Amino acid sequence: MQLDTDGDAGEFARAKVNLALHITGRRADGYHLLDSLVVFPEIGDRLRLLPDTRPRSLALSGRFGPELQPAGPDNLVLRAIEALTSACGVPPLPMGIELEKSLPVASGIGGGSTDAAAALRLVPRALGLDLTRDQLLKLALSLGADVPVCLDQKAVRMSGIGEELHPVPSLPVTGIVLVNPLREVSTPAIFKSLTRRDNPPLPAFPDRFETCEALASWLEPCRNDMQAAAETLCPPITDVLAALKAEKGSLLSRMSGSGATCFALCRPHDAARIAADIEKSHPDWWVASSNRIQ
Ligand code: C5P
Repeated sequence: MQLDTDGDAGEFARAKVNLALHITGRRADGYHLLDSLVVFPEIGDRLRLLPDTRPRSLALSGRFGPELQPAGPDNLVLRAIEALTSACGVPPLPMGIELEKSLPVASGIGGGSTDAAAALRLVPRALGLDLTRDQLLKLALSLGADVPVCLDQKAVRMSGIGEELHPVPSLPVTGIVLVNPLREVSTPAIFKSLTRRDNPPLPAFPDRFETCEALASWLEPCRNDMQAAAETLCPPITDVLAALKAEKGSLLSRMSGSGATCFALCRPHDAARIAADIEKSHPDWWVASSNRIQ
């Protein structure tokens, strides 16, 4: 098998942020139907192949690496690689892989999903596998409802349980600050505790969003329908939202996914300053910023 890892810096696995997340129904199998605008900031994990290491081993590094120890075969990155090689009928990956984990675990920004999606981009390139888009999407969905949306890492409207992806108008250059109180939140627990599951879908999109202020004001009447349940199960989320809202230049603040990470949108040049302010007043929180989303 020909391996192409020369000069390969690996894959950046961007965080997935739900700028709005409406729960519109529930399938017979219990999975929830969503309608969500999803974007990707320049904040994420990194995945690299490690030639000359034990096949299928996973080395964990980065701030949150220790939280995923021990890295067993149930890790979503290893499951993604296994699913990929067996679907293509090729031998298992003949080397290890490193996951530099910079995103907090179980935090509503799709950490595990974006890592799995990065593996689905990286490994076919290294092994010279030629998968169709449909094959990749199917593999992604078999790993988790949020994995398909993470394949392209581009702003998209997501519906169904996460498998229906629709283009959105191009977004203005927008800053974003992510804050997590470092409490893990269980996604199934939040879904289970919802009291309403028949909320209206997202409003109609404009042809384009001219400015970040226009994007924020379109988002204003939208919601994250899991936010109230998450605040009840994890009260520090309310403090995070208050801190983000109080910042000068904060255009919109909301929770992402099932939490506990919350975001504020802002003008690009405000992002680093808002992040520094919050880091200073809450050194026990995880704070990250990006001066663009895609
Ligand atoms: O698909 P994934 O494994 O990421 O989902 C984790 C859990 O979250 C599911 O087992 C399900 O309980 C819940 N979920 C849901 N509806 C979705 C996505 C996830 O109810 N659209």
